[in-house]
Amino acid sequence: MKRIRLIDIPKISDPDGRGNLSVVEKDILPFSIKRVYYLYDVPSDSTRGGHAHKELQQFLIPLSGSFDVVVDDGHRRKTITLNRPYKGLFIPNGIWRELENFSAGAVCLSLVSAEYSEEDYIREYADFKKYVENN
Ligand code: TYD
Repeated sequence: MKRIRLIDIPKISDPDGRGNLSVVEKDILPFSIKRVYYLYDVPSDSTRGGHAHKELQQFLIPLSGSFDVVVDDGHRRKTITLNRPYKGLFIPNGIWRELENFSAGAVCLSLVSAEYSEEDYIREYADFKKYVENN
């Protein structure tokens, strides 16, 4: 699981108490951003994700609220709670992920390395296990 990691997003606090600003510049990520999408209005009992990507790399930021990210490399599984808008999770290709336990009002921003391609998805866990064994 060594390639999955939390990345600090630089935070600029306003000296006059006008709130915070965080900025994602290309040098903090190990890939270049090709697409941006976001999840919102996710019911607390819903699970998103439930797939792996063959090539796509991803950076998840909890813009608001919190949610859990379950990551699985085919051998080990762990759960990471994202709840700070200045800490994102980098998920490389070849990792199964599930997003769950969304708080009310949670927004998950997703910065990814590729355009949308259904061919890049592995949507069945059994297929993912086979993929890990063969790659
Ligand atoms: P999916 O990636 O399965 O969502 P999640 O992992 O959050 O549960 O995508 C859900 C649907 O949206 C699926 O039908 C594909 C479509 N979709 C696009 O058309 N373009 C996109 O950029 C994304 C991320 C999804």
